[in-house]
Amino acid sequence: TKSQAWSALFSEPMSELVKRYTASVFFDKRLWQADIDGSLAHADMLAAQGIIGAQDLADIQRGMVQVRAEIESGSFDWKLELEDVHLNIEARLTQLVGDAGKRLHTGRSRNDQVATDVRLWLRGEIDAIALLLVDMQRALVHVASENVDAILPGFTHLQVAQPVSFAHHLLAYVEMFARDAERLADLRRRVNRLPLGSAALAGTSYPLDRERVARTLGFEGVCQNSLDAVSDRDFAIEFSGFATLVMVHVSRLAEEIVIWMSQNFGFINLSDRYCTGSSIMPQKRNPDVAELARGKSGRVVGHLMGLITLMKGQPLAYNKDNQEDKEPLFDTVDTVKDTLRIMAEMIGGEVAADGTRSAGLQVRRDAMERAALRGYATATDLADYLVKKGLPFRDAHEVVAHAVKTAIGLGQDLSELPLSTLQGFDARIEADVAEALTLSGSLNARNTLGGTAPAQVRAQIARHQARLA
Ligand code: ARG
Repeated sequence: TKSQAWSALFSEPMSELVKRYTASVFFDKRLWQADIDGSLAHADMLAAQGIIGAQDLADIQRGMVQVRAEIESGSFDWKLELEDVHLNIEARLTQLVGDAGKRLHTGRSRNDQVATDVRLWLRGEIDAIALLLVDMQRALVHVASENVDAILPGFTHLQVAQPVSFAHHLLAYVEMFARDAERLADLRRRVNRLPLGSAALAGTSYPLDRERVARTLGFEGVCQNSLDAVSDRDFAIEFSGFATLVMVHVSRLAEEIVIWMSQNFGFINLSDRYCTGSSIMPQKRNPDVAELARGKSGRVVGHLMGLITLMKGQPLAYNKDNQEDKEPLFDTVDTVKDTLRIMAEMIGGEVAADGTRSAGLQVRRDAMERAALRGYATATDLADYLVKKGLPFRDAHEVVAHAVKTAIGLGQDLSELPLSTLQGFDARIEADVAEALTLSGSLNARNTLGGTAPAQVRAQIARHQARLA
């Protein structure tokens, strides 16, 4: 292995404390695949440009096959002294193939190497997350498709507002996750640009063919300024911003699931396999998964702040600060993937190979409807009814406020008041008011595009199903 000191310039070895403080191998070794792919693409280009020989390239390729096998089998000896994934792999390669290994780093710096590795790795994770976002949307659309006619009280200020279809409520989250997917696809284009070939900061004197490397690695283009290429972490921050919004959406949904499952609502039930018990209270079934999903949004939001703060104030070009981008980014990716997967399963059930689903979230329609009937959710419908009979809306609003006040005093819903009582508030009220005051009448009336009428909701479900097919 390498001597303790960095090079002939150094008269003493690094302190043990500094070694541990500066090393990143224990977390950045997860970049190994990207690091090998990047090195092979670089070596292939060096040979094509005549910068290294054909035999060197063959040796590097042969050595990397072995390195790959060792890492995959777990026999690779990761060394703290070698600081990071890049130096570990290069050192082992050189051990295996000699001089060719030492030629690999020609025209390259760890600065453009690490920027390339992180982008390559993140690109793969982005593609995995894009699929998980589709699964999440499908799970919600699936439950929605079975619950168009389930009616729950829609809330504003968490006070009963107007009745809505449970499907409509779930589709609101589908819209959020669809926007997340759009954002992800958009930022992927900026992740997918190649820093390699920028060397330490200024470019290099070797006749590199950066476009060739970009093609080999599937990058859409090359970074156009070497200083920016090695120091830019915007792509990580953008991804982190995307992840923050995903987790905010998940967290809001998780919060609703927790509320809906509380005995005081009782709108849904979750399968036992997604609940936990209590060590002291025998009656408990807690929605821990949803609570944790809500909780884990905090760390992802925190990582965004961490990354932004990391970059603020860094002078050009590369600084060691940038090594600190990895742990937040890795944890963000892990958290988003696990959370999307578990929430999609808990809501929509587990999807078998043949596409069938196990039971997911169970909807208690009766409890939802009972709650919708309790909070005067159809008061707006009574006002709208009077408007249709010729009363100006503001006057109708006032008439209905009186009616609700009376109903509250009687402990009855508007629909339970006798017609004669209602007519006491406004003579225009006739027998046909009954339909306006039912939950389904209220839903059917809201037939504007994007509204909660079952016809609209079914059209949205069909649109999503086609989009997600
Ligand atoms: N481990 C380093 C990182 O993650 C690699 C680049 C180090 N470059 C340097 N000149 N020290 O950023």
